[in-house]
Amino acid sequence: MKIVLIGADGQLGSDLLKTLGEDDVLPLYYPKFDITEPEKCRSVVLGLAPEVVINTAAYHRVDECEDHPKESFQVNAIAVRDLALVCREIDASLVHFSTDYVFDGAKRSPYLEDDPPNPLSVYAVSKLAGEFFVRQVLKKYFLVRTCGLYGVAGSKEKGTNFVERIVELNRAGTILRIVNDQWVTPTSTQELAQRISELIRSRHYGLYHLTNEGECTWYSFARQVFSLLGEEARLVSVDSLTYGAKARRPLYSVLENKRAKEIGLKGFSPWNEALKDYLLVKGHIR
Ligand SMILES: NC(=O)c1ccc[n+]([C@@H]2O[C@H](COP(=O)([O-])OP(=O)(O)OC[C@H]3O[C@@H](n4cnc5c(N)ncnc54)[C@H](OP(=O)(O)O)[C@@H]3O)[C@@H](O)[C@H]2O)c1
Repeated sequence: MKIVLIGADGQLGSDLLKTLGEDDVLPLYYPKFDITEPEKCRSVVLGLAPEVVINTAAYHRVDECEDHPKESFQVNAIAVRDLALVCREIDASLVHFSTDYVFDGAKRSPYLEDDPPNPLSVYAVSKLAGEFFVRQVLKKYFLVRTCGLYGVAGSKEKGTNFVERIVELNRAGTILRIVNDQWVTPTSTQELAQRISELIRSRHYGLYHLTNEGECTWYSFARQVFSLLGEEARLVSVDSLTYGAKARRPLYSVLENKRAKEIGLKGFSPWNEALKDYLLVKGHIR
C-alpha cells in the first residue's frame, strides 16, 4: 500500500513508520513539509499519489493552545480540511487523529464514539473542528480518537512523554505533584500503530476510539511506573484545581473501543501491560 505519513518523526509517527515497514511508506517531516502551507502541501501529496494519507501532525501543547487559538485552529482544523480536500481530489483515504479531550468528563463511564462531545479547552475545540472537517469533506476516512500517548520517540511537540519526564525528574530528586482526579487510559503508540496498520486494510471507514484497556489517574499511572522500575519516588497526589493548569481537562476521558471491537480489530492490552512492554523496549527494565 502506498502511504504518505505526515509527522513521521513524531511519537506516533515513528512507530507507524516502523510498523508499516512492509508498505510503500513515504515519510514527510516538518518543517520541510508543513500542513499549514496548503499549496505546497497539495502539490507534494498530488505528486506522491498515495492510496492513504496518515496525518499525525498537531498543535497539542494543550496549555499553550489557550493563548494561541488561531494557531491551534490553523494546524488542528483548517490544515486538516485542506488535507482532506487533497485526499478527496486523488481518492485517497485519510487517517487523522483526535483526542479524548473532545469530551467533558461528565459521563463518568467509558465514552463511545457516538457520545456527544463537549470540549473544555481551545485545543479540544480545535481538534473537534478538525474532526468535523474530515467528516464533512470525505467518505474515506479513519478518524481515530486516542488518549495519553507515550512512545519510544517521545512527543516531538512536548519534547518528551509523561513516563520519561517523571523518571527524569524523580532521578533528579524532584518531588512530583501529579493529578489524581483525571481518569484516562495511557496508550502505547507502538500498539496503536499496529492497530492502525490493521484498520487501514479493513476499509471500514469512520470514527474510532483506540486506546489501551482499563483506566487510571495520572497519579496511579506514575505509581505503576515507579513500582515496575523498583524505584522510590516522592509522589504527591493533587487535584486538578490545586495543580492549576491553564487549560481545563476532563476529569474522566476514558474511551471505549466499541467500533474497533465490532469490526473485529485485534484487542488492545491493559494499560499496565503495555507500560511494562514500553519500559522493556526502552531498556528501563529487563
Ligand atoms: N500525545 C498525546 O498524549 C495525545 C493524546 C491524544 C491524541 N493525540 C493526537 O495524536 C496525534 C499524534 O500525537 P504525537 O504525540 O505522536 O505528536 P508528536 O510527537 O508531537 O508528533 C507530531 C508530528 O507532527 C509534526 N508537525 C507539527 N506541526 C506540523 C505541521 N504544521 N506540519 C507538518 N508536520 C507537523 C511534528 O514535527 P515537529 O515536532 O518537528 O514540530 C511531529 O513530527 C496528534 O494528532 C495528537 O493531537 C495525542
